[in-house]
Amino acid sequence: MKKDKAKLLLQAPKGMHDILPENYIFYQAVFDKAEEIASHYGFQFIQTPILENTDLFTASLGASTDIVEKQMYTLKTKGGGNLALRPEGTAPIMRSYIEHGMHTRPQPVMLWYKGSFFRHENPQKGRFREFQQFGLEIIGEPKPISETIIVRVLTLILEELGVGPIIVHINSLGDKECRSLYRKNLVNYYRKKTKDICKDCLRRLKENPLRLLDCKEQKCGEIKQAAPQMVDYLCPPCKEHFKEVLESFDSSEIPYFLDNHLVRGLDYYSRTVFEIFEDREERDDALASGGRYDYLARTLGRKDIPAVGGAIGVERVVQLMMDKKITPKQKKLPKIFFIHLGAAAKHKSLKIIEMLRKAHLAVNHSIGKDSLRGQLKLASKLNMSYALILGQKETLENSIIVRDMDSDNQETVKIDELVENIKNKLK
Ligand code: HAM
Repeated sequence: MKKDKAKLLLQAPKGMHDILPENYIFYQAVFDKAEEIASHYGFQFIQTPILENTDLFTASLGASTDIVEKQMYTLKTKGGGNLALRPEGTAPIMRSYIEHGMHTRPQPVMLWYKGSFFRHENPQKGRFREFQQFGLEIIGEPKPISETIIVRVLTLILEELGVGPIIVHINSLGDKECRSLYRKNLVNYYRKKTKDICKDCLRRLKENPLRLLDCKEQKCGEIKQAAPQMVDYLCPPCKEHFKEVLESFDSSEIPYFLDNHLVRGLDYYSRTVFEIFEDREERDDALASGGRYDYLARTLGRKDIPAVGGAIGVERVVQLMMDKKITPKQKKLPKIFFIHLGAAAKHKSLKIIEMLRKAHLAVNHSIGKDSLRGQLKLASKLNMSYALILGQKETLENSIIVRDMDSDNQETVKIDELVENIKNKLK
């Protein structure tokens, strides 16, 4: 095998990574906290497949978005179908809502989800090709309170994980009518500046003018600052909706910043869009983002269904927790190490480990190791308080040795009395 090929065999695909045991506690902390708060606010779990028909995304995310143009992992099935690894979760959930007739349930339907998403991006800090999201969707509710619930739950999760202070950047993209008037004026404005804008902006001007406001090039900065702003074009109902969103943010004490240049990279949004950042001078990538998507159902061939949602980028939150040296609380760590000596003891091991599990006593062990020395060494390396030693004699006598790892004192205890004995010692 060629050297390069052999090397590739031993590497995760570019932009994708393993979650190792020592890092899992961070992911678990994020998911546990997120699930706890989301459930408290009435969200229910939903899981959709990792693969969806490619058309679901091309129809809903927008043909000229980066995701659809460049970033989808697609495949042809043996039956000739076209599937895509999901790049995001909102379109699949709306698909599921429609497919399962969830409009007949009490509205709104409030859902949470988690899992891997895939985008063929240029990997860099905080940007991966496979990444985890925790997302929330409220479907079937037109009122601004749903924006507040989504943003409040996302900010609570981030704050309680300790990655605050956070700030919510918020904007309104209006509805079909007022946005199209705005787009016309934006295009007219930029058409007069074509000599002064970057290459990407020239393309955006043709394909997706709202994304002009997303340009980070210094060259385009001043032009962007002076560009017409969506807020000035909002129709009265959109203006009223946005005003109510902001008022309810105020009364919920959600820290926000009106960001006239916030447009987002997905076409399905209407009215409110938001991105949540760590609140500090140098802005990093968004920790979470989302918005309202009242027209998404229509792009899938149904009538409009009012909806709003948002998702947290879990890797970004985990990285920030690590940077801030936030160590999540470990689940109860075992204090007991189980040691077996000889074949008969090995066979009895699982029974004893199970007995301890039923008594809620977490236990570490090394079933593969046979020597007493090796197992004791491991127990002491893991800082265990007690070792339980099951040898030939103990196996025959239905007993076990309980050894205090600090003092090296030990006693023999009947198996029937083991749970009580250990519980007393750990009190
Ligand atoms: P999004 O802004 O594309 O929105 O992604 C949501 C969050 O996922 C981002 O704020 C970021 O933290 C994280 N994220 C996105 N791309 C990457 C990446 N390549 N690597 C690491 N993290 C990433 C959505 O996906 C929408 N579905 C959110 C939504 C829900 N809107 C309404 N409901």
